[in-house]
Amino acid sequence: SKGEYPHYMRKEIEMQDVSLANAIQGRIDDDGTTPDLDPFPPGTFAAIERIQFVACGTSFHAAKYGAQLLNNAGIPAQSFRASEYDDSIPVDEQTLVVAVTQSGETADTLRAFECAASGGARTVAVTNVVGSTAAREADDALFIRAGPEIGVAATKTFSSQVVVLSLLAHRVSADVADVAPWDDPAAFYDALERLPEDVRTVLDRGDAERVAEEFLGSDAFFFIGRGPGYPVAIEGALKFKEITYEHAEGFAAGELKHGPLALVTPRTPVFTVVTGDDNGTTVTNAEEAQTRGAPIVAVSAPGHRIDDVADASLQIPASHPDLAGLLANVQLQLLSYHTADRLGRAIDKPRNLAKSVTVE
Ligand code: F6R
Repeated sequence: SKGEYPHYMRKEIEMQDVSLANAIQGRIDDDGTTPDLDPFPPGTFAAIERIQFVACGTSFHAAKYGAQLLNNAGIPAQSFRASEYDDSIPVDEQTLVVAVTQSGETADTLRAFECAASGGARTVAVTNVVGSTAAREADDALFIRAGPEIGVAATKTFSSQVVVLSLLAHRVSADVADVAPWDDPAAFYDALERLPEDVRTVLDRGDAERVAEEFLGSDAFFFIGRGPGYPVAIEGALKFKEITYEHAEGFAAGELKHGPLALVTPRTPVFTVVTGDDNGTTVTNAEEAQTRGAPIVAVSAPGHRIDDVADASLQIPASHPDLAGLLANVQLQLLSYHTADRLGRAIDKPRNLAKSVTVE
């Protein structure tokens, strides 16, 4: 039940400290520097040379985030929108194809998965639903343990997908012989163990509600980011359009000047996600929008140089760069929620959308 909450979506956002603790529980080895990921003991992925993710919507954004982490670790990884995946994509026995699907029933994702399996790939389903079609059809399944998600808009399941994919990325990179060890894994695992607390800090801030109020009535809402901030920018925009029905777009920060800047005006706030030090390039991109009059809202940890530019901010606690995007996304979930709430939208059941999409 929704309990004290006005919407399931609100409850699902609010309880992410708990759902993330579940996703992590028992999955970090005692040494605190390696994953302990049932059903994947060390060495499981020794023969794997490349990873392909297939997913739709929000799950695609989590997959894109996961692919970034793998690439950073030196493993070739690509993410595909499942509806665009077919037998023209080369796969072989050294390819691991990971379907990321909350429900485990999304038709496009299941079809892409079948296509990969018939090409000889090894398959893993990352899903929330034990006994789902994806879990049954995969060689192996990895569960995100987020609990049932009732709101049509995916929130807690995105966060749990990101965490589980980061653990899978660590498992694969440890198994693949000619890849250098992950840089300072202890720092990542420390931040991972702190993550439920850090999410709680974001949830208790209250700045998203104020910012939502401040920008109500804008012509459009833009979200930019680079690296792991890019999947967060496109996820922020997807959530915003789904539940507010306002025009929202996510862009790679560096792409603004290649076209979208033409849309930027004083009536289009630009939410700028920064997840680490990128030598200030994303700040420069935000300034390009600010010069055209756009209000800049920083989604960042304190002390980042975006603070010198920003007109408003959605703060996140300092964390590991691989997890900062997840925290930034929680702020954007709250922003969408409070905006939709102010507009009186049908938050748990947005028009035209279904929780599980079982047609191609
Ligand atoms: C967005 C949303 C959808 C789903 C997509 C995939 O909030 O919920 O974009 O993410 O339909 O669904 P699953 O993850 O069940 O495959």
